[in-house]
Amino acid sequence: MDKFVINGGKKLNGSVNVSGAKNATLALLPASLLANGISEFRNTPKLNDVFTMLKLLKQLGAGYTFENGIVTLDTTLVDNFTAPYEHVKKMRASVYVLGPLLARYGEARVSLPGGCAWGPRPVNLHLEGLKRLGAEINLEDGYIIAKSKRLNGGKINFDIPSVGATGNIMMAACLAKGETIINNAAMEPEITNLARYLISMGAKIEGLNSSILHIQGVDFLNPANIDTIPDRIEAGTLLIAGAITKGKVNLTNVDIRHMYSLCEKLEATGVKLSYNSNSVTIDATDSELNSVDVITGPFPGYPTDMQAQWIVYMSVCNGTATITDTIYRDRFTHVPELTRLGADITVKDNSAIVKGTNKLRGAKVMSTDLRASASLVLGGLAAEGTTEVLRIYHLDRGYEGLESKLGQLGASIERVAGSEY
Ligand code: EPU
Repeated sequence: MDKFVINGGKKLNGSVNVSGAKNATLALLPASLLANGISEFRNTPKLNDVFTMLKLLKQLGAGYTFENGIVTLDTTLVDNFTAPYEHVKKMRASVYVLGPLLARYGEARVSLPGGCAWGPRPVNLHLEGLKRLGAEINLEDGYIIAKSKRLNGGKINFDIPSVGATGNIMMAACLAKGETIINNAAMEPEITNLARYLISMGAKIEGLNSSILHIQGVDFLNPANIDTIPDRIEAGTLLIAGAITKGKVNLTNVDIRHMYSLCEKLEATGVKLSYNSNSVTIDATDSELNSVDVITGPFPGYPTDMQAQWIVYMSVCNGTATITDTIYRDRFTHVPELTRLGADITVKDNSAIVKGTNKLRGAKVMSTDLRASASLVLGGLAAEGTTEVLRIYHLDRGYEGLESKLGQLGASIERVAGSEY
């Protein structure tokens, strides 16, 4: 298992390019199942989660190549409709094949994802939504067994604006008979990216970027090509890397419209941000860093996927901040590890209360999930001395070449292959 060895305390300086968005790619690739033929996905990030999705699609019968950031997927020979436990337990986003398989082939057998380290993370909204479109759904031996003749349009009101359920139902509804209305739909940019791809395949979707989607079903869709949007969470993590080291960092290939909530919070801490059409610069070189509270929420609110990074940032700011996660109420596995770096954090219910300290100190810490790992790396960059971040396979699921990007910005960070747990 690889680890990172970080010698902290270096101000980051320079420019790096942000990769395509993991969570957009994980929805876009399975959407290709809705059509017969070859689709092209540009700006695809090279990530373990993307390879897991490609493996799953291959198991279903699709063929692919992945070169220079472009995935070419051929769905012509798809003839298997099962997403096995082995895949789904590795990556919950595997459940995205459910809607497309059901809508296109009339059947799907997808393993239930089960729980996760920070809560139950159910898929009830996916299943209830598909039932509203006429699917017959049974749970057998840990699997979702979904069947339907042609799906029918329907009206769906989500209690919570779930990203995955919105994506799954939107994909399925594109091939249903008649109109589907999704009320309280997720408005995350990754969902809009998916909707644009579906529209280029021939789908009729209105209400993009809003919480009400109107989808008129069509008889068939065609393969199409799409550019993956930039990864707003990678960009946000790199901005905090600039802030936490009191450096100056420029990011290219960003869409600032996807990052307003984070940028506003960053500016409130005292850093300077400047923007161009597809780039952003953070300058913290002369900044006094002050604590700012954050409450996560669905887009356009502050993203839960930037909660761990904000907690570690607040650990080096003046004052006390409260960070409340309303999306995943137990997503705090990074806190005990950050405490090992000297952070002063107390978790109460779904909030972390962070008292700023003068200095973090290097230590051995262990990754527990993707964004938790990112917060430990940020802590290591800010800490005095050497930090070893173990189990970075979590990080490899969702950050493309993070160590080389940070190295390019002047960080001392090295990947060491090893067997330490
Ligand atoms: N929820 C339900 N029932 C459902 C679905 C969701 O109660 O059927 C709840 C969840 O438990 C959670 C809330 O609704 O409390 C929102 O979950 P959502 O469905 O929006 O999350 P997701 O689609 O499973 C995606 C991202 C996550 C990100 C969340 C929230 C992908 C592949 N994953 O998950 O990304 O945290 O949206 O923004 O898009 C990450 O990248 O590190 C990551 C975890």
